[in-house]
Amino acid sequence: MTRSLPLLVDAFQRRVSYLRVSLTDRCNYRCHYCMPESGVELVPRSDVLTFEELERIVRAMMTFGVRRVRLTGGEPTVRKDLIELVRRLGALGLDDLAMTTNGELLRELARPLKDAGLSRLNVSVDTLDPIKFRQITRRGNLDAVLDGIEAAREAGFAGTKLNAVVMGGVNDGDLADLCAYAWARDLTPRFIEFMPMSDGALFTPGEFFGAAEIRARLVARFGALVADDGSGLPGVGPARYQRVRDGAFAGRRVGIISAVTEPFCETCNRVRLSATGQLHTCLALDDSSDLRSPLRTGCSDDQLLERVHAAVTAKQEGHSFTTCGSGGPKKHMVAIGG
Ligand code: GTP
Ligand code: 5AD
Ligand code: SF4
Repeated sequence: MTRSLPLLVDAFQRRVSYLRVSLTDRCNYRCHYCMPESGVELVPRSDVLTFEELERIVRAMMTFGVRRVRLTGGEPTVRKDLIELVRRLGALGLDDLAMTTNGELLRELARPLKDAGLSRLNVSVDTLDPIKFRQITRRGNLDAVLDGIEAAREAGFAGTKLNAVVMGGVNDGDLADLCAYAWARDLTPRFIEFMPMSDGALFTPGEFFGAAEIRARLVARFGALVADDGSGLPGVGPARYQRVRDGAFAGRRVGIISAVTEPFCETCNRVRLSATGQLHTCLALDDSSDLRSPLRTGCSDDQLLERVHAAVTAKQEGHSFTTCGSGGPKKHMVAIGG
């Protein structure tokens, strides 16, 4: 059946062309919008997909025309033998093999990652204030991250994006500094609305900061913004881009990821694979399909493809995230990688 169905299209006519692969549920940070201070229950290592299993699933997705893969975590750079994995996935002939990272380990890893075939990076930086950075991440080192970003540039990574989750009263005053930092280095800053994962447990009343407020902050600092289609930027993610119209920063681009107040489910093009081999067709819902069990009990390629196809066919229309911290899934962001 799947051989005659080369593309993955869901019941709402959305084509899946992009796979996010979580390599581990572990992270060297404890960002307070992503996981509780105590961490989350970690999965046993034997439940985590091996490189062979990961490669087999990526190949299966490629049969369906998926040509873009993003590696996530937890924190993908803490996965053992990451460079070997990137080399293996890099040899599969994907159009884009990207990674989202907190950047802490990039000084050491940027060049080997580039040499292994990684196409590009998105790095999370919520503030340029080292003390605040430490508070938000609970254990991060801003200097290491900024040095990691520099290492990525030296290694030849281009098109790097900077992700910041915006929280009112925490870093909403830092947007202009983050833009200036990014633009001076040819990075694209992106501001993200907080999504209430973990059954809303990480939501702090008063902190939600929506896309309209983000735009207002940017306009107050940089003047008028004009909509931009993001052309020329690598990636096909959910960010909506704007350009500064006039002045010293004219033409500079900034993205906003507004899952809660201005959802983008209509154009959703992606599915996610957890580190334990669960295929999640939506970030915001708790349903998933187990790919690991069939793999470990010797399924054929066709059986694997059928399972993927069935999951995508059942993909739901969208989510019910709210600005007051309800409507999200029970699953944790750290376990699925965004
Ligand atoms: P590009 O391909 O470079 O545009 O990357 P991306 O924006 O797709 O990926 P990244 O990992 O940098 O994610 C940035 C933010 O977007 C994170 O907060 C993710 O959780 C969020 N995000 C990515 N894809 C989706 C999605 O399909 N739905 C929702 N609700 N959020 C998403
Ligand atoms: N809401 C929105 N974005 C989040 N991220 C982590 N937790 C959340 C959340 N609750 C972002 C990180 C990273 C990406 C993988 O997801 O900042 O950039
Ligand atoms: Fe896709 Fe779900 Fe994100 Fe909506 S919330 S864009 S359907 S993953």
